[in-house]
Amino acid sequence: MSFSLLRAPIRRAASCWIASQSSAQKSAQNIHPDSANTAVKSGVQAAKVKANFVPTKEDYQNVYNKIAELLDEAGDYDDGSYAPVVLRLAWHCSGTYDKDSKTATTLQCVLPRSLSHGANAGLNVARELMAKIKEEFPWISYGDLWTLGGVAAVQEMAGPKIPWRPGRIDGVAAQATPDGRLPDASQGSDHLRKIFGRMGFNDQEIVALSGAHAVGRCHTTRSGFEGPWTFSPTTVTNDYFKLLFNEKWVWKKWNGPKQLEDKSTGTLMMLPTDYVLVQDKSYKKFAKAYADDNDLFFKDFSAVVAKLFELGVPTEQWVTPEPWIMKNVDEK
Ligand code: HEM
Repeated sequence: MSFSLLRAPIRRAASCWIASQSSAQKSAQNIHPDSANTAVKSGVQAAKVKANFVPTKEDYQNVYNKIAELLDEAGDYDDGSYAPVVLRLAWHCSGTYDKDSKTATTLQCVLPRSLSHGANAGLNVARELMAKIKEEFPWISYGDLWTLGGVAAVQEMAGPKIPWRPGRIDGVAAQATPDGRLPDASQGSDHLRKIFGRMGFNDQEIVALSGAHAVGRCHTTRSGFEGPWTFSPTTVTNDYFKLLFNEKWVWKKWNGPKQLEDKSTGTLMMLPTDYVLVQDKSYKKFAKAYADDNDLFFKDFSAVVAKLFELGVPTEQWVTPEPWIMKNVDEK
């Protein structure tokens, strides 16, 4: 696994990043062993990139297409698609942002120190997949690659279009944020408000974001929790919200962490943080609206995921003032 960080996918962006570094960050880079390693690898990788290569929207579409192809090559893995775990990778990279200290722009998972954080268990599946893409397109930053992976995952699972644009520049290990910035599934509504508030999200956005649990599943070997949230874990729908309201949820009797199961089949699950969406009055209002209206959920989900994937990136770094809409593979 390579953690080399390409610092200059686009010259303009690179100069902005270097200019925006504090002297503390610069000196931290000089002394941190991971950073030195990173710099060497980055140099090797940069040498592979053609000197004057400036990627176009088409080049990024080619990356999208390649990701979409790989998402489908999952064989027996989970429910037959890598898309959920790739979406989770994109979210975890973006979700360590702190709006006050402005630390952790999109992309902390790429940093060696973050990989050991408990919340990132299991993401190696997605990282290895993305590494294959990176080999083929070494000019793209990890930040752009992993968030584009998230965009492809949502869109290829029949979800809404997620406006996206390139311009993220990868950090170095010395900038990795401490463990504990991602949500803890065993907690309640105050915890969600605190964690997502730190990123700059309100109640409505927290609920819309949680709708991502329409897809994928929990793994005892990763988080300790077990099972999918819906009967169609590779299709983005508002079923997660419908099920929250329409099923009777009971605490699962097992030796694992506290989670709920649907009374009728016992095959679906909800995390304590999912269930608070119908317990907390403010969350419940939005959850009900999404359960009743898939179009509304898609509209809000698209906006909030686009916001998530852009957290903390300085405006001047974007290569385009307006985000792009990438084509799905079947639109080619
Ligand atoms: C509300 C706070 C959240 C908590 C506490 C939470 C917690 C979890 C946990 C415990 C898992 C299971 C991991 C495993 O065992 O493999 C999981 C999976 C997942 N989460 Fe979340 N999550 C949250 C928010 C989000 C958000 C905002 C997104 C995306 C926008 C997201 C997307 C996913 C996806 C797609 C999976 C399935 C991964 C797979 O199938 O491998 N989650 N989440």
